[in-house]
Amino acid sequence: MNYRHAYHAGNHADVLKHIVIARVIDYLKQKDKPFRVLDAHSGIGLYGLESTEAEKTFEWRDGVGRLFAADGAPIPLSDDAERMIAPWRDAVRSVNNPDTTTFYPGSPEIADWLLRPGDKISLNELHPVDHETLIARYGDTARIKISNLDATAFLKATSPPPERRGLILIDPPYELTDEGERVVRMLREGLKRFATGIYGIWYPVTGDGLDQSLRDAVAAMELKTLDVRLDVRSVERNGGLAGSGMLVINPPWRLADEMRLIMPELADRLSQGKARYSIDLKSE
Ligand SMILES: C[S@@+](CC[C@H](N)C(=O)[O-])C[C@H]1O[C@@H](n2cnc3c(N)ncnc32)[C@H](O)[C@@H]1O
Repeated sequence: MNYRHAYHAGNHADVLKHIVIARVIDYLKQKDKPFRVLDAHSGIGLYGLESTEAEKTFEWRDGVGRLFAADGAPIPLSDDAERMIAPWRDAVRSVNNPDTTTFYPGSPEIADWLLRPGDKISLNELHPVDHETLIARYGDTARIKISNLDATAFLKATSPPPERRGLILIDPPYELTDEGERVVRMLREGLKRFATGIYGIWYPVTGDGLDQSLRDAVAAMELKTLDVRLDVRSVERNGGLAGSGMLVINPPWRLADEMRLIMPELADRLSQGKARYSIDLKSE
């Protein structure tokens, strides 16, 4: 396990992923009934943008750094798009002093910030050091459970959640050559136990074909799926992360329309040359 999210936190892919997650959480909060976030690949929850790791890549500058100035001021989109990204902005603000942007919240922190007192969070992280960091940060929070299982075992152990409502995040580093197939197996296993859950699967666009094979495999399952993808530039040979996407299974009914408001502006804002986005909604 070589992947360390600290080098990439707050980059364009995190911004897209976390805006989508925050919208789904906002939807789940519209009903009084409690729900749970099951975060199968949690990372460490909070990232320093002045850390040694962040300063090796400065990826965040072309991500969260295009939406918040160094002095903490938002660099706004249109009013409509701002309404949509407000929960994500609030989560970013919550980890920073009012006059700086020096930290970036990961998925555990975003969930912890946005969930109501009666909602629950199950965090899972296989990397032993990152797991310890999660325990140090969230171990005393009663509504948060923390485990260090392989993500597949975690989903088997925690699905369905007692609340029978929730968001399941599948966000692996795609270091392993068969990670795409693992993700599809995880989704199948998850759906067997918890068919009504909302599943959020992040995928990278690097030119290796994984994005297409993953999307084809999920399409073959004939599920209700929303695929939101943002390429911030053209794919280059060995050129790293040109884009990313979120596959949302059982998406909230308004999510596609919400993303139609956000994505044109987000693509413009995060562009590193020729940005393109797509929003693809498939019914069962
Ligand atoms: C992309 S990062 C997660 C970022 C986090 N979800 C966020 O949005 O802030 C992926 C994480 O998965 C962890 N990981 C890798 N393989 C795993 C596995 N088989 N089971 C659980 N966690 C794993 C890595 O250590 C890494 O911290």
